[in-house]
Amino acid sequence: MPKLLTSLAILYFLVLVKSHGKTKILRNNYAISIHDMVKLIDYEHQLLDILQNFTNALQQRVDAIEYYLYTTDYEAEKKLPDDPIKSFRIIRRLHSDYLNWKWLMEQQPWEPLVKHIIAIAPHMPTLKDIEEAFNGLRLIQWTYSLPTAQMAEGVLQNIHHNTSLDAMQCLTIARHLVKLKEFIRAKEWLMVGLQMHEADEDNEVFYSQLGMPLSDFYELFAEIHDELGTRYLAMSELRLAIKNWPERVSLQRALSRLKVNIRIGKEPAKAKEKSEGVYNKCCSTECRPSAKLHCLYNTTASYFLRLAPLKMELLSLDPYMVLFHDVVSDKDITSIRNLAKGGLVRAVTVTKDGSYEEDPARTTKGTWLVENSKLIQRLSQLAQDMTNLDIRDADPFQVLNYGIGGYYGTHFDFLADTEMGNFSNRIATAVFYLSDVPQGGATIFPKLGLSVFPKKGSALLWYNLDHKGDGDNRTAHSACPTIVGSRWVMTKWINEREQLFRRPCLTTL
Ligand SMILES: *[C@@H]1O[C@H](CO)[C@@H](O)[C@H](O)[C@H]1NC(C)=O
Ligand SMILES: *[C@@H]1O[C@H](CO)[C@@H](O)[C@H](O)[C@H]1NC(C)=O
Ligand SMILES: *[C@@H]1O[C@H](CO)[C@@H](O)[C@H](O)[C@H]1NC(C)=O
Ligand SMILES: *[C@@H]1O[C@H](CO)[C@@H](O)[C@H](O)[C@H]1NC(C)=O
Ligand SMILES: *[C@@H]1O[C@H](CO)[C@@H](O)[C@H](O)[C@H]1NC(C)=O
Repeated sequence: MPKLLTSLAILYFLVLVKSHGKTKILRNNYAISIHDMVKLIDYEHQLLDILQNFTNALQQRVDAIEYYLYTTDYEAEKKLPDDPIKSFRIIRRLHSDYLNWKWLMEQQPWEPLVKHIIAIAPHMPTLKDIEEAFNGLRLIQWTYSLPTAQMAEGVLQNIHHNTSLDAMQCLTIARHLVKLKEFIRAKEWLMVGLQMHEADEDNEVFYSQLGMPLSDFYELFAEIHDELGTRYLAMSELRLAIKNWPERVSLQRALSRLKVNIRIGKEPAKAKEKSEGVYNKCCSTECRPSAKLHCLYNTTASYFLRLAPLKMELLSLDPYMVLFHDVVSDKDITSIRNLAKGGLVRAVTVTKDGSYEEDPARTTKGTWLVENSKLIQRLSQLAQDMTNLDIRDADPFQVLNYGIGGYYGTHFDFLADTEMGNFSNRIATAVFYLSDVPQGGATIFPKLGLSVFPKKGSALLWYNLDHKGDGDNRTAHSACPTIVGSRWVMTKWINEREQLFRRPCLTTL
């Protein structure tokens, strides 16, 4: 696998390291691959099962105790006993029932359940997982301009998904937005959450038990309005909150902070600009640069295709870019995904000093398919037939599965001169789509104003180098955040060294 090793050496290159390498940074990373969320669903079932059995155990006791209280008729027996039967009843109860109840109260029949709930602790998502899941939602929201209230109701791009967020989830999102200093968005999420909480007033104990009492909402409200400079509004709400929950010192502290900020006239926070990886409209609707290009069967790319032509859609002549339809069968896709599933690890980049670093602009997990099975040989042949390039000098197939709002920031597949050393550059890239993605997940080429939405079994092919063999900057591309679905793709990078005779000159381009 020398190819794989050479790739690892290259700066800013996508690499996938084996999970035993750097276990510390490559923990579960649940939010980074939809496939790996399967495990979480199992853990949640276990938790609910534990709680259900715990409830049953408690309920049995409650029933027994209630029945006891009912049969003793203790209200009536409070008076001094005046008959021997009553006296006997009391003496017997206090002699023997007392011991039984004492024993029962000391017993913890749910101890196995406690053990079980402790046992699953190492598998629970971490703060980092929440942050990543939150980042996914945040990215989806602003890439596709989704209104907060709709999103909270589970309406994404006008499609109603039957899952909504609750007050606590909205508060969590608002808190993370505050951390990022995105106060206006934070306010929207907080207000939606506050409304939901107030509609559910009767269950305040439940919210407190789960660590999100209503007073927390008011505290965050004050913090956000403090930052936005609407401090008198913050103050009146805080005063009301303090009246309601006088015991909460954090509210008092918030009020003191507020007063100080009013006195010193602290500047409100600057409205934050949208930042990283701004996506264009081609993430939401399919963009095609020219209507003149058309679909055709390519029978000339290789001898094979003269016998079995591929359905080919020409997307761009310069740089050359085509979309093949129905090139990988469902059966092969299932096999590929099964091959990849065991080995999915987070995409990382190599830093200058050679260490691995997670890149927030690459929220995906992947693996290389290095074995040389019949399936891989068949797929390699397919890549060769599609491109008419010699794929002996190519990286192994790489399979990626994306997570919540998973995306891949804008990048080139070719290497800059400075990065090249003695490596062979990536002349072409073939991306095979291994799943349909119901919403989002387009591959976009911002400079070409072109986007391709994943369709299971299709493949996108383009040349990264121009006719002189230099990197073509117009091939800058990225994967838009996936909104709904599990986005699976497989990539083949084909290198130029072996292509001297197959693509000797393309001077006409
Ligand atoms: C819960 O109780 C059921 C039925 O008694 C049992 O099969 C199951 O294993 C229990 N689950 C846990 C997590 O203890
Ligand atoms: C939501 O539920 C309704 C009614 O059960 C159903 O018609 C609709 O297809 C569901 N929406 C999604 C996105 O599953
Ligand atoms: C068919 O594909 C080959 C290789 O990709 C390309 O050189 C050729 O121009 C294509 N034919 C047509 C008609 O587009
Ligand atoms: C490239 O290959 C040449 C000759 O084999 C060697 O002298 C040179 O050090 C190599 N450069 C790099 C960057 O590996
Ligand atoms: C391509 O991009 C690189 C880096 O972004 C830049 O240095 C180079 O000048 C660009 N080339 C062209 C032809 O625009």
